Amino acid sequence: MKWMGLNELREAYLKFFESKGHLRHKSFPLVPQNDNSLLLINAGMAPLKPYFTGQEVPPKVRMTTCQKCIRTGDIENVGITARHGTFFEMLGNFSFGDYFKEDATAWAWEFITKVLEIPEDRLYVTVYEDDHEAAEIWEKKVGVRKDRIYYLGKEDNFWEAGIDGPCGPCSEIHFDRGEEYGCGKPTCGIGCDCDRYMEFWNLVFTQFERHEDGTYTPLKQRNIDTGMGLERIAALMQGVSSIFDVDTVKAIRDKVCEIAGVSYGEDPKKDISIRVITDHIRSVTFMASDGVLPSNEGRGYVMRRLLRRAVRHAKLLGINGLFLNELVPVVVDNSKCEYNELEEKYDYITKLLTNEEKNFNETIDRGMNLLSEYIEKMEKDGKTVLDGESCFFLSDTYGFPIDLTREILEEKGYTCDEEGFKVCMQHQKETARAARGGSKYMGADETVFHRISKEYHTEFVGYTDMECDTTLDYLTTDDDFVDEAKCGDVVYAVVPKTCFYAESGGQIGDTGMIVTKTGKAKVLDTTKAVAGKTAHKLEVVEGVVSKGQAAHLTVCKESREALMRNHSCAHLLQSALRKVLGDHVHQAGQLVTADRLRFDFSHFSAMNAQELAEVEATVNEWVLSALPIVVKEMPIAEAQKMGAMALFGEKYGEVVRVVSMGDKSVEFCGGTHVANTANIGLFKIVSEASVAAGVRRIEAVTGLGVLKLLAEANETIAQASANLKLSNSAELVARTAAVMQEIKDKNAEISHLNQCMCAGKMDALLEDIKEVKGVRYIIGALEGVKPDMMREFGDKVKAENENIVCLLSTCCDGKANLMCVASKDVLAKGIHAGKIVAKAAAVAGGKGGGRPDSAMAGVPDASKLEEALNTLPEILSEMVK
Ligand code: ALA
Repeated sequence: MKWMGLNELREAYLKFFESKGHLRHKSFPLVPQNDNSLLLINAGMAPLKPYFTGQEVPPKVRMTTCQKCIRTGDIENVGITARHGTFFEMLGNFSFGDYFKEDATAWAWEFITKVLEIPEDRLYVTVYEDDHEAAEIWEKKVGVRKDRIYYLGKEDNFWEAGIDGPCGPCSEIHFDRGEEYGCGKPTCGIGCDCDRYMEFWNLVFTQFERHEDGTYTPLKQRNIDTGMGLERIAALMQGVSSIFDVDTVKAIRDKVCEIAGVSYGEDPKKDISIRVITDHIRSVTFMASDGVLPSNEGRGYVMRRLLRRAVRHAKLLGINGLFLNELVPVVVDNSKCEYNELEEKYDYITKLLTNEEKNFNETIDRGMNLLSEYIEKMEKDGKTVLDGESCFFLSDTYGFPIDLTREILEEKGYTCDEEGFKVCMQHQKETARAARGGSKYMGADETVFHRISKEYHTEFVGYTDMECDTTLDYLTTDDDFVDEAKCGDVVYAVVPKTCFYAESGGQIGDTGMIVTKTGKAKVLDTTKAVAGKTAHKLEVVEGVVSKGQAAHLTVCKESREALMRNHSCAHLLQSALRKVLGDHVHQAGQLVTADRLRFDFSHFSAMNAQELAEVEATVNEWVLSALPIVVKEMPIAEAQKMGAMALFGEKYGEVVRVVSMGDKSVEFCGGTHVANTANIGLFKIVSEASVAAGVRRIEAVTGLGVLKLLAEANETIAQASANLKLSNSAELVARTAAVMQEIKDKNAEISHLNQCMCAGKMDALLEDIKEVKGVRYIIGALEGVKPDMMREFGDKVKAENENIVCLLSTCCDGKANLMCVASKDVLAKGIHAGKIVAKAAAVAGGKGGGRPDSAMAGVPDASKLEEALNTLPEILSEMVK
């Protein structure tokens, strides 16, 4: 068989199906769009579901893709076997109500026998046990020998995913790798679990819809969905036994070995780690390029888990320090010919992954400290098993993997309570599942709007017009159609033409008015109801509005113009951030309202004042240079050539809308914009903060928003001036400085007066010296004296007097303290100030201690200070030798 590289194979496949009238479409992002049934795309058909059910119209009834996929169901096995991986590419050809079994089978056969030139005598096909139609087509039309066609049951040859959705019988093509790969059992044959017969292509005849109750009904249109794992067919063509030996994957594997200084195939334990890293680095690199960020939930958690598993196995291989940054370029180089986003976002991907890797290394350090504490405690308590909760706490809070905990414990002769750990894990999973709520296989839940014909479209004229005439074709409540709505009702209207912008791309929906002959309604919000249809949320404020009525629509101009200023400015902001901070900056989210713009972007540290000032100045410079804003629709390839900035993980059509502002900004964007940057007026950043690891958020205002901000600032100044009784606020700065100085001077004066008062008090105390067993003592309660001043006086008493013990108390700023001093000569008599103060404080519930000649204690209950002071004679009489 001819050797073919993985990239070459992908190209051959897509070209072949293009020649059969298929639209070749770039892989959809790994992040599902409008589908909450999946965390990550796991099959070629997944992003195309609405086309299969007929919910949306496909760009063409025949499509072919090579889809990036991630499956983590088998993650525990990845590495352990050479068969499992989390990341793979799936080749697929699809028919949406167009060709069916005959063409699907014939083309599959043609591709593998004529293009790939796989000898027919090594091929077998299987069909579903009831699908005689498919068996007959294979035999009579395609010409496969009858003894090479096998019938298998539902488990093998019926494809469905989830509890509802499109499904159907399937037919699989198998390759016989030769006897030497077999298990040798007499039962060995197609369907055997061993390595001999390799299934590599699944043709699904999607003709049923499965319902939640387990019943099936025929789909209106019969579809074809096929899936061929690219790495798997590449392994077959390259005559190697595992996906880790395929050219592009092996390149990564080799790099892992080089970094670790080990060889593959020498030590089975090390091989596991090498495979884990090789697979996981592919997954996380692709996830990063599609905008997934590591986090503690959802797909972000999947990413974090994969990355940590890779780092963890690197440590097992003896790799110390950061290494992911050395692997990313190998992943990128081997796949960039198909996935240009890898190269475009190279800097960003490396920074993101390295950042997470660094954090995890620190996590490991912290986890190690905690684990050492646990071990110490187990030693003390004579235990040998670390309880499940502690293991779970380490893993959940510190991200310290259980296998690491186990290994370290075992090294020291301990074990962990695996069962207890599992119970905690299970509990957490259930809580998480409950929080996620039920979701359906088809993802986007059915709404009343799905009941409107899928051909029905709303035309948007709002890029140019703020008013238009239309018809109220549909009025609905949240779940049903209605014929009319009267004053006070809140309903949705779907119309054939609108000037209202439906919320999208972070720009919120327009508001305004709808007027008919019989009534008026406020438009509270505008949203995309379902593909191509716009819903206007109405509150009827006068009369009645009815289905079918002619209506005049007016967008609230003031609000929309503010929105446009903010949206256009968000584009300039992104360019300015990239200019000042670097090309790793990408939009991670935004919210454009009439009041302000909120822009989230990838960046790995807080911005300093200088960077903020520079960004602000740059944007304002571009605003003031009055750049014309040009909007153009063009084929996606042309837009990419222009270097237009696109959103991570966004699904774009073949024709895109590009918004340019001079040479400062070119972006894919469907939003509404001002005609010239000068219309923005002025730009002012209000705040900069962190929203997630590696994501910062800027909030800012433009135009009238800046005036409002100025007005608020002026008001603050005016009020502060009034408080200071200034007639002219220009004096504010000098006056506040003067007031602060005055306060400082007064504080010093108060402090001095206190000292004098205190000195007077001390003189009085010294006149009242008492004696116990020949030791002289003084007791003194000082009010409002700071502890350090009390210390000063205590020191003075002990320095200037002989044979003296002095116990003082003070209550100042809500805190009560005791102090005891003793002159040098009494120490020989067994006097210890630290012990005295501790005993006295204990009476008032306090704690303290110190040197034999000087000590302090804090007391929580000030009302007991007197009682504490009065203990001195008794303590002394016990203490004096
Ligand atoms: N959707 C089918 C699969 O994933 C082709 O195997």
